[in-house]
Amino acid sequence: MGQYVIEGRNRLCGSVRVHGAKNSALPILAACVAVGRPCVIHNCPDLSDINSTVKILRSLGCDVRRNDGTVFVDSSRISSACITDGLMREQRSSIIFLGSLLSARGEAVMSAPGGCDIGLRPIDIHLMSMKKLGVKISESHGEIRCTAGRLTGGKVVLPFPSVGATENIILASVKSSGVTTIINAAREPEIVDLAMFLNSCGARISGAGESTVVIEGVERLYSSQYAIMPDRIVACTYMAAAAVTGSTVVIDEVIPAHLVPVFSSFEQAGCRIEVSGSKIRISSPERLRAFDRIQTMPYPGFPTDCQAIMMSVACIADGITLINENIFENRFRHVTELRRMGAEIYVQDKTAVVNGVRNLQGTLVHSTDLRAGAALVVAGLCAEGRTTVDRICYIDRGYDSLAENLTALGAVIKRKD
Ligand code: EPZ
Repeated sequence: MGQYVIEGRNRLCGSVRVHGAKNSALPILAACVAVGRPCVIHNCPDLSDINSTVKILRSLGCDVRRNDGTVFVDSSRISSACITDGLMREQRSSIIFLGSLLSARGEAVMSAPGGCDIGLRPIDIHLMSMKKLGVKISESHGEIRCTAGRLTGGKVVLPFPSVGATENIILASVKSSGVTTIINAAREPEIVDLAMFLNSCGARISGAGESTVVIEGVERLYSSQYAIMPDRIVACTYMAAAAVTGSTVVIDEVIPAHLVPVFSSFEQAGCRIEVSGSKIRISSPERLRAFDRIQTMPYPGFPTDCQAIMMSVACIADGITLINENIFENRFRHVTELRRMGAEIYVQDKTAVVNGVRNLQGTLVHSTDLRAGAALVVAGLCAEGRTTVDRICYIDRGYDSLAENLTALGAVIKRKD
């Protein structure tokens, strides 16, 4: 399972480069199946979720080769439209292959993805959307079997701007014979990255990043090279690391516009943020101040993936911070672990009330999910004494070289496998 052992209260300095976005790389790698020709994806992070996706690509018959951050995917000879239960369980977000397989093969067979640590993660919106587009779906014995000839387009109104469902609709309709319109689409930057990749392959997608997305189906897609955008959640994590250690750090190779939803929380806490091109410079005060209530919302609202990370910041901020988790029903699992470190947090339904303390105390804590694990690392950086974060396999899903990067900034953090 692995552990991070952190000696807290070391000031950080210097700059850190942010790697490619996990939540952009996953749908773009899946989209290579719909392209049906060799594609080269650059700036792909080295993460366990990426490894799981590569396993799925190879199980479908794709030729996949990796060289550092570059992944070559040739799906011209895929031989299957079936993803096994084992592979689906490795990574529930593999549901994103549904749309891609429908585009490539007119069918998809996969096991119903289980829930995960932060919630039930139903796929009803995905399936409702596919049916709206004319896909025949049968579910039995935990298996979902989807068949469709060449889709003819249509209009899908999403009851909730689901990121994955928006991506699946785009992928299913990119080679349809008609026009597909998504109303109330997710507006996350990862949707824009996926659309830009597909358009670089000859797709005709407009409105990505807005609430209405229009996909004009094309006959075929072509080979392309594409660089994944930077990971905005990882960037926020390094900003939080600087904030809780009273440090000044430069976060490099980011798209600052993607982090606007979190800037105000850091500034209210007393941090100074300067943006210049692809760099964010964050200067932090000796003592943070509590900040205005955080309400997690679909983009461009406050991202749910930053909720746990910002809770760690609030734990040592002077005053009371309220945090509402509106997206996932079980995303406060880091609270018990932070309380073991001396944090004063009270949870009632979707609201956490954080009463900032002067110092957290280092101890053994367990990662319960990806972002909770990252939040515990941030807490360990400012805690008195030694913090051991256990079960860091969760963190490996979304953070490439976290310990190396924090060490380069001056933190004392060691990985123990
Ligand atoms: C994506 O998950 C991200 N994962 C998540 O990041 C992120 O937290 C989430 O979007 C919200 O921004 C990837 O991109 C791989 P949703 P996704 O569909 O697509 C409910 C991380 O830490 N819902 O927008 O699954 C769902 O239960 C991960 O990197 C349905 O009810 O998110 C949730 O409450 C965690 N039915 C809400 O919508 C559905 O059919 C948001 O889900 C689909 C979703």
